[in-house]
Amino acid sequence: KILILDFGSQYTQLIGRRVRELNVYCEIHPFNHYPEIDETVKGVILSGSPYSVRDENGPRIDLSEIKGKMPLLGVCYGAQYLAHFFGGEVGASDSREYGRANLQYVNDKNVLLNGVSQDSQVWMSHGDTIVRLPENYEVIASTSDVENAAYHIQGEDTFAIQFHPEVYHSLEGVKILKNFIVDVCGCSQDWTPDSFIEETVAKLKAQIGNDKVVLGLSGGVDSTVAGVLLHRAIGDNLTSIFVDNGLLRKDEFGSVLDSYKGMGLNVIGVDAKQKFYNDLAGVVDPETKRKIIGKDFVEVFDEESHKIQDVKWLGQGTIYPDVIESVSVNGGPSATIKSHHNVGGLPDYMKLKVVEPLNLLFKDEVRRVGKALGIDSKLLGRHPFPGPGLGIRILSDVTPEKVRILQEADAIFINGLREWGLYDDVWQAGVMLLPVQSVGVMGDERTYENVVALRAVASTDGMTADWVHLPYDFLAKVSNDIINKVRGINRVVYDISSKPPATIEWE
Ligand code: XMP
Repeated sequence: KILILDFGSQYTQLIGRRVRELNVYCEIHPFNHYPEIDETVKGVILSGSPYSVRDENGPRIDLSEIKGKMPLLGVCYGAQYLAHFFGGEVGASDSREYGRANLQYVNDKNVLLNGVSQDSQVWMSHGDTIVRLPENYEVIASTSDVENAAYHIQGEDTFAIQFHPEVYHSLEGVKILKNFIVDVCGCSQDWTPDSFIEETVAKLKAQIGNDKVVLGLSGGVDSTVAGVLLHRAIGDNLTSIFVDNGLLRKDEFGSVLDSYKGMGLNVIGVDAKQKFYNDLAGVVDPETKRKIIGKDFVEVFDEESHKIQDVKWLGQGTIYPDVIESVSVNGGPSATIKSHHNVGGLPDYMKLKVVEPLNLLFKDEVRRVGKALGIDSKLLGRHPFPGPGLGIRILSDVTPEKVRILQEADAIFINGLREWGLYDDVWQAGVMLLPVQSVGVMGDERTYENVVALRAVASTDGMTADWVHLPYDFLAKVSNDIINKVRGINRVVYDISSKPPATIEWE
């Protein structure tokens, strides 16, 4: 495997994705908290960082076990680090170097840049520049502004690049990463969904034995794929629980239960709507709502799981980005904006051991694994839906009546996306019920009713997102349908904010 040490760059996860796309297994760890380097580690990549190597409190790492002893690649901050702390000099650049650039010198005899074209387009994003390299460092690529755009330390398998090979705009970035991973590190490209399934099922069998497992299903991709993997490993010793928290989409409880039929997941559906509505009554603050929904879920789940005799394990559909974000919150360098993931949210009194078969996969990999497991493509293609559901899309307090209004509007929007063939172009979509009333006119009557905002975003992992340019005709039709058919709404607006600086949800 390849180890990626994270100094907090927004692009670190992207490096991981690129390595995985080359069918090589990798793990991302904070620079100050990584596992022991054993013989399974074939190479190490140092990420970029929002810090400068010249900052007093910039991230520092002891590389004595790594540098010179195994293949090492520094990217951006990583490149500056390997220059600055080993006898070179890094200074502020005259012009901040961001965006597109073209290489004008490439030593394609160097294994890292083998096959890279002489004027290859690369993507720069840095405020500092490497002014002087240490002795025995050899420049292997330059642009007109950045002389030390890539270098190799002679006598070592250590390389560094100032630009970002992981971003799409570095057109031959994947080639460079492949040169490093395959030719320098010697990794074989055999990490595929089928090999993952085989390994994981065997591991789950060994880990769980004849114990019983209870799994929380949400109807989403992650928990479903986790369920099918567990079922393959332990068969009928798996029981799944699907809770209706009253904040699901219209008709979702029934249709999800239907779609689970015949999959062997042993699903128990629990209608707990009233409990959630009671506990949420009058609560306005978003984080408090999240906490109540989380707590109620655990209580319902706990009560149900106690009905299963001798259950020892709790299965969860946690995926890799959840784990990485949580690590960052607990002392890693990346800043996190909302604390919403389901890692570590389990109270001690449940006394169940946790099993998370997907905690090393990215979302698209989960879908690929799901496909290889034969799960229905309609289920696999479902948009992500937040755990607290419509509870965080009703801005202000939650009431059953507001849920009904929002469910109707949401169903018109989502069904419309399907009917117009737009559903798969959108990563996630939904409707927000705003705590705003506005004046309207219907017939001869003046109305004073609610405003809803439609949200549809394109993204790969929810970390960054852009609003989707839905056709005007479609928006016009949806707006008209919502206002005419959903009593209580007289105005529809479309959210055209990207993330960052906005977020996907409004709360
Ligand atoms: P934001 O709003 O942070 O959302 O841009 C990013 C992704 O996370 C989902 N999300 C949540 N998921 N519990 C969840 O399970 C939550 O509290 C929560 N808040 C946001 C959001 O739907 C999007 O996919």
